[in-house]
Amino acid sequence: MDLKIKGKKAIMAGGSAGMGRATAERLAEAGVDLYITARREERLKNAAAEISEKYGTSVTPVVADSSTEEGRKALFAACPDPDILAITIKPPAPNGDFLKVTPEMWRDSIETALIGPIEIMRHYIPVMKDKGWGRIVNIATFSAKNPMIWRLMSGPARSALINYTASVSREIAKHGITINNLLPGMFRTEGASEILKDYADAFGLEPTPEAVSPHFLANNHIPAGFMAEADDLAPMAALLCSPLSRFIVGQNIVIDGGQHASLF
Ligand SMILES: NC(=O)c1ccc[n+]([C@@H]2O[C@H](COP(=O)([O-])OP(=O)(O)OC[C@H]3O[C@@H](n4cnc5c(N)ncnc54)[C@H](OP(=O)(O)O)[C@@H]3O)[C@@H](O)[C@H]2O)c1
Repeated sequence: MDLKIKGKKAIMAGGSAGMGRATAERLAEAGVDLYITARREERLKNAAAEISEKYGTSVTPVVADSSTEEGRKALFAACPDPDILAITIKPPAPNGDFLKVTPEMWRDSIETALIGPIEIMRHYIPVMKDKGWGRIVNIATFSAKNPMIWRLMSGPARSALINYTASVSREIAKHGITINNLLPGMFRTEGASEILKDYADAFGLEPTPEAVSPHFLANNHIPAGFMAEADDLAPMAALLCSPLSRFIVGQNIVIDGGQHASLF
């Protein structure tokens, strides 16, 4: 399918690994010029070079932490006028006992997973409004919709994010700008393996795959029968970045292999 975005300019904030990188690849495949960000420079530069080489598009790496004002300024300076904005961000580690979650931990979660994406959108929406077109996609989490006791540092902030985008998307749809959110379930990514130790700590397990995997699978029934790969989300992200999705406004699409049952 031709997504009709060849030649457009896209930002994938959080594009050096996992679902962000897979989305960057799908956008590059569709012929957009990309700006990808991350905090860790080496992996970011490698990703940019690999994507550019593979798809023959321009991919500019920008070292920028989306959760800080300084990082966001670096992104705004590098790419002042994107047509497409996709954002993902790593929230703080899984919490242990909920009674031990402190105000500082809440502030960190909100600063990262809520204020970071909001401030990036708030900066670029007027730019897209001037162009009369724009696409915004947040890759957040299914725990925004389906609370999980060990993801208090991720879900609640993203519940607020999807509440914000529900309002803002309906305010700006008349300008040809859409905002939609993807809410992933369990994906086998670099990020997921990085939180293995945190998951083990949260449940008092040994931090080994042998100890964590049975606990994880016993507590997470995935009807599809497997954990997803990053590219199980990316085609949907790319579609939401296309003119073909112009009537999809303010939606939250859960991609979780059927893990959480709900009608909407
Ligand atoms: N994997 C899962 O099973 C799962 C489940 C539910 C929800 N999610 C959510 O889905 C999203 C993507 O997860 P993933 O597993 O694909 O993550 P990942 O493999 O860790 O990739 C995240 C990407 O974003 C970058 N990034 C993270 N924080 C950033 C920040 N503050 N500023 C700029 N770049 C940042 C990372 O690079 P640097 O680290 O170098 O910055 C990396 O490029 C996350 O929001 C995660 O919470 C994942």
